Amino acid sequence: MGVFLPSSPAFPGVFLFLFITLCLIPELALAGITRHYKFDIVLKNVTRLCHNKSIVTVNGQFPGPRIVAREGDSLLIKVVNHVHNNISIHWHGIRQLQTGWADGPAYVTQCPIQTSQSYVYNFTVVGQRGTLFWHAHISWLRSTIYGPLIILPKRGIPYPFPKPHKEVPIIFGEWWTVDTEAVITQAMQTGGGPNVSDAYTINGLPGPLYNCSAKDTFKLKVKPGKTYLLRLINAALNDELFFSIANHSLTVVEADAVYVKPFETNTIVITPGQTTNVLLNTKAKFPNATFFMAARPYVTGLGTFDNSTVAGILEYESDEFPHKTLSIRKLPLFKPLLPPLNDTSSATNFSNKLRSLASAQFPANVPQKVDKRFFFTVGLGTIPCQHNNQTCQGPNGTMFSASVNNISFALPSTALLQAHFFGQSKGVYSPDFPSSPIFPFNYTGTPPNNTMVSNGTKLVVLPFNTSVELVMQDTSILGAESHPLHLHGFNFFVVGQGFGNFDPNNDPAKFNLDDPVERNTVGIPSGGWVAIRFLADNPGVWFMHCHLEIHTSWGLRMAWVVLDGKLPNQKLHPPPADLPKC
Ligand code: C2O
Repeated sequence: MGVFLPSSPAFPGVFLFLFITLCLIPELALAGITRHYKFDIVLKNVTRLCHNKSIVTVNGQFPGPRIVAREGDSLLIKVVNHVHNNISIHWHGIRQLQTGWADGPAYVTQCPIQTSQSYVYNFTVVGQRGTLFWHAHISWLRSTIYGPLIILPKRGIPYPFPKPHKEVPIIFGEWWTVDTEAVITQAMQTGGGPNVSDAYTINGLPGPLYNCSAKDTFKLKVKPGKTYLLRLINAALNDELFFSIANHSLTVVEADAVYVKPFETNTIVITPGQTTNVLLNTKAKFPNATFFMAARPYVTGLGTFDNSTVAGILEYESDEFPHKTLSIRKLPLFKPLLPPLNDTSSATNFSNKLRSLASAQFPANVPQKVDKRFFFTVGLGTIPCQHNNQTCQGPNGTMFSASVNNISFALPSTALLQAHFFGQSKGVYSPDFPSSPIFPFNYTGTPPNNTMVSNGTKLVVLPFNTSVELVMQDTSILGAESHPLHLHGFNFFVVGQGFGNFDPNNDPAKFNLDDPVERNTVGIPSGGWVAIRFLADNPGVWFMHCHLEIHTSWGLRMAWVVLDGKLPNQKLHPPPADLPKC
């Protein structure tokens, strides 16, 4: 823009115009753009571990396509369902401010997209940057329908850590050689635990430690003396994971799309639903070796599980022979030392190191006062066998179930958000979810004789801007177990955690209200508790559930209703015209 100052009577007006325009330009440059994606849900034949199967995919890709946006951008993602299964997609960790209709959990914020129907998910990324992911949110379809969702900072805004040479998504999955819909159907019918997976995967590849799988190995080719940003995502269904790279340490810089105070570690713990960004500094010189990056489960429960290990390869490109990969085969291969499968102290150690950056630019807005306190027990239980004169496969011939405050949550056959928005909750849900257990007991002590849970569709209703403190207590009814709890629509601060029963008299004094980690999924310590705080500033209906998919299937889920506030930007938008019908 030229600087031209006319000496006419119009001068003051023109000057004002110029002044306003100049002031607005930085704003305009920072305002987001709209990015369009199309997701065609189609079947695809895929071979892993020498078994071929037809899987439900997005655009025939496994893992699915990468979504990339900048903070402030809007995303318009058209999902077209070409398969027989009902579909819905969740943008895991996106706050969905006022756009709850785009959140995705089937029968919570929307009816599923039926065969040959489509739905456009329309939302804006507000105040978030980092790694998230998207996945199907109906039945067990997320076993094959998932992919990275990467939010870059606004243009011109740097990371609060050294700019990496390259950024690489590393998405962990879980692979069954059989159809996962059949696995969950069978488990729900027999009441027993589901068949465990046959492999874990890195970017869809199980790697060389499985039979007939060496050719399906993820390779990360790196140059010496560089920094790489690894965007780790746990999209596995039922397993928390330890991850490590041989002879390399990692610097954690972000969790669940929120920056953290950087710290160095050899091993990462990542629950399903969590994402972690780490910096990897490569060796200064070509090391004359290759290195495994490997993941295997962290397991606390009693049931059977997949105890296998997925490995990928970190491969250095030699400066002298940049394209000579042949010689690499002869190089020594180093393997990382992963913690024992039940190593709770490693897991605790790691999660205790996570702290918000809490800087002027990236403050930790921890609610300092609390309007409403909740205490939820979380864990497994049983329900009576549903088959006449037959025993079920769960404990003592019963069926497995799972609950929050002893209520196993039943999904309705219509969407909760629609029922709420149109004032038609009657017969769909009741607003009386208990704020603490109705029958208190020694949660982590000797299990009670009666392990039966009740069933219902009860929700908590919160006025707009309620400041919530929620303590989630693991129960040892069927054995203590770590549960990765995920909350939709909000980030929360993890203000405290511990083992045994939560002590309401002494534990709150130890809460960290300065720099607690801010995230959307937290592992409740096995046989312990975790305290979180969040501000209910997003109107809508928000699902909360264990991100171990089998626990969700058994009912370890509930939902919060957050009412509209008074101002226009405190109200849930009306539903889009193409919102699917049940
Ligand atoms: Cu990633 Cu409701 O889940």
